[in-house]
Amino acid sequence: MEYSAEEVRGRPVWTLLADPNLRYDLEQLFGDPRQLETPFKQEGPWVTKSGVVRRLRWCFALADPTRPDTSPVIAAGIDATDMKRVFAKLQQSERQYQAIFETTGTATIIIEEDTTIALANSEFERLSGFSKTELEGRMSWTELMSPEDLPKMLAYHRLRRVDPEAAPRRYECRLVNRKGEARDTFLTIDMIPGTKQSVGSFQDITDYKRTQEQARQQLAQLAHVSRLSMAGEMASGLAHELNQPLFAIVNFAEGCIDHLRSGCERTDEVLAALDDIAKEAERAGQIVHRLRDFVSRREPRFEDKDLNAVVRQAAAFLEADARHAGVSVRMDLAEGPLTTCMDAVQIQQVVLNLLKNSFEAVAHSNCGDRQLAVRTWAEDGQVEFAVVDGGLGLNGAALDQVFEPFFTTKPEGMGMGLSISRTIIEAHRGHLWARPNAERGMTFGFTLRREKG
Ligand SMILES: Nc1ncnc2c1ncn2[C@@H]1O[C@H](COP(=O)(O)OP(=O)(O)OP(=O)(O)O)[C@@H](O)[C@H]1O
Ligand SMILES: [Mg+2]
Repeated sequence: MEYSAEEVRGRPVWTLLADPNLRYDLEQLFGDPRQLETPFKQEGPWVTKSGVVRRLRWCFALADPTRPDTSPVIAAGIDATDMKRVFAKLQQSERQYQAIFETTGTATIIIEEDTTIALANSEFERLSGFSKTELEGRMSWTELMSPEDLPKMLAYHRLRRVDPEAAPRRYECRLVNRKGEARDTFLTIDMIPGTKQSVGSFQDITDYKRTQEQARQQLAQLAHVSRLSMAGEMASGLAHELNQPLFAIVNFAEGCIDHLRSGCERTDEVLAALDDIAKEAERAGQIVHRLRDFVSRREPRFEDKDLNAVVRQAAAFLEADARHAGVSVRMDLAEGPLTTCMDAVQIQQVVLNLLKNSFEAVAHSNCGDRQLAVRTWAEDGQVEFAVVDGGLGLNGAALDQVFEPFFTTKPEGMGMGLSISRTIIEAHRGHLWARPNAERGMTFGFTLRREKG
């Protein structure tokens, strides 16, 4: 009030009041102090010495309630001017926070230390199928999680309260709604600073996952059809390859028959020939096996596989055709295994597509350099594949279009090889690329992330 003690001493308290009505109330009160047997509370505008009006909240009480007539009155006042403003600000921020909580578009809850849901927004009502009244203060989030995710999430819940940094903040989990349906969600969760509460936002990704799965299935089907057509194109080469062991088997078998008919008693020679027959039969079996793996209809399967082994198998498919066309394939593969997580059949399909294109580019060029160089190597946590050819090459405009579906410069071409290859590599989160060589021909390759283990 800006007055010194001396200035107010002896002065009626109501003279400091700005509002004449309040002034009158106080005057009445002090006229009959028995009214103060129960403390009297009053709030109103008071004037400071410099004339500023401030809102004060007072409490008047008798110092000695047993002697109301003679007891002095104790009055304690607090300045409520700022409190009002702070309170209004608090109310506003509460309203803002409520609006944000409601309109973030993601299902959000505030969680107590004992796992009870303290607050839930409308989006969470929609996701869970439970109303706020059913959820808030009554249900635990643990009742809404799928049994597979629950143990891990409970561990995170506790860990987060010991050290907020220790538990992951974002991960996928499944929420089971009122109807018992599991929804795939992406959870973002964090502690509210200075409290034992956490706030979790669930983004429903069920539809997104379903679309992704459909795309994956479609790619698998398209890739399969394309493999069948490739196998058809390679049929003559493969038949030729298969013919070699079969021819050898016939030869060895005839040798054995002659030997036995002639009455020769040297069984070691017959045994050696039979041994060769077994080996050749195995070789033929492997060719058939490889082909069956390649064309069989199957679910995509991501496993740790050696890229080098995949490349060798793909090259084996082309071996006969290459020999026939007088094209030599130089293999320059990384020494150790290049293990990475992949669908081996699909990656083999990509390698084969690239090898076939390069082979076709050199086979149809009239230049002397009928050679392909195949390389694999590891770099910066990635595995790389490239095939370099000295073929016709590609000019600028065509180079921009090679990955487009149905772009082809071949009379019999479908123009789908590179487009499918790119989709496969991208589904592996890798990168397919094309680069013209400095002298002649093209280099095509891809990069895959190298996974640990
Ligand atoms: N190594 C290469 N050298 C030169 N041109 C190439 C090379 N690889 C691809 N191309 C060009 O890219 C086009 C598209 O290749 P893509 O493999 O997608 O289809 P395609 O080989 O024509 O037919 P298919 O669907 O049977 O594979 C080819 O027609 C060719 O013009
Ligand atoms: Mg092709």
